[in-house]
Amino acid sequence: MNIILIGPPGAGKGTQAARLVEERNMVQLSTGDMLRAAKSSGTEMGKMVAGVMERGELVTDEIVIGLIEEQLTTADADGGFIFDGFPRTLAQADALAVSLDKVGQKLDTVVQMTVDDEALVKRITGRFTCGNCGEGYHDEFKAPAKADTCDKCGETGTFKRRADDNEDALKTRLMAYYKETSPLIGYYYAKGMLQQVDGLGSIGGVADDIAAALKKAG
Ligand code: AP5
Ligand code: MG
Ligand code: ZN
Repeated sequence: MNIILIGPPGAGKGTQAARLVEERNMVQLSTGDMLRAAKSSGTEMGKMVAGVMERGELVTDEIVIGLIEEQLTTADADGGFIFDGFPRTLAQADALAVSLDKVGQKLDTVVQMTVDDEALVKRITGRFTCGNCGEGYHDEFKAPAKADTCDKCGETGTFKRRADDNEDALKTRLMAYYKETSPLIGYYYAKGMLQQVDGLGSIGGVADDIAAALKKAG
């Protein structure tokens, strides 16, 4: 099953994708994670996108479509793909349809995660991740059992915060979402593929709602 998780910054796309990977053996394709990896490994492309990302603007369609195409042809995904943070523009959505078709795959459903703007600010400003294993945390909603130690991998002193998780960049990211990405909701609705889940519930509650949506689609 191939699915898109769509929602504003902080909606919980990455959090839920990680659960689906563990529970269903799916492969998470997060263009945000791929771009951050390119940035930290210092590739030419990574250097090019660093400033754009830090400001909260969108990277060009060409770059992210290239990243996704590469993964679709090389990744081994028996459990299917979760597209997290991609597509974000209509051009990306069209390109995804073509790329999936090329590898003999199709999209099964699109899950829109709705969260109000006030909650997003709270989620984004409290977020941090483990630099060793990538586990995501939150100061209030998902604090590690022992401050400074990762619950998942046990490493200490590896927690880091994203350069674009500040109020200024978040404003730009929200604007990009409403201007460029929200038209995709109508696009997938018209295709009969859209399902909505309330992203404001607990992490486990949202996971249950997504599981129900996937069942409906499968
Ligand atoms: P990207 O990395 O995709 O960032 P984003 O869309 O802004 O989304 P986030 O990762 O911030 O939020 P999320 O929904 O994953 O939330 P999370 O699960 O972490 O993109 C970053 C940048 O890369 C873009 O700005 C752009 O520059 C570029 N880019 C990426 N893709 C692109 C594309 N396709 N085209 C062009 N440019 C692109 O949750 C947030 C926090 O809330 C966490 O702390 C979590 O623990 C907590 N939380 C989650 N769920 C709950 C819950 N139910 N209750 C309470 N807390 C919760
Ligand atoms: Mg994310
Ligand atoms: Zn860890």
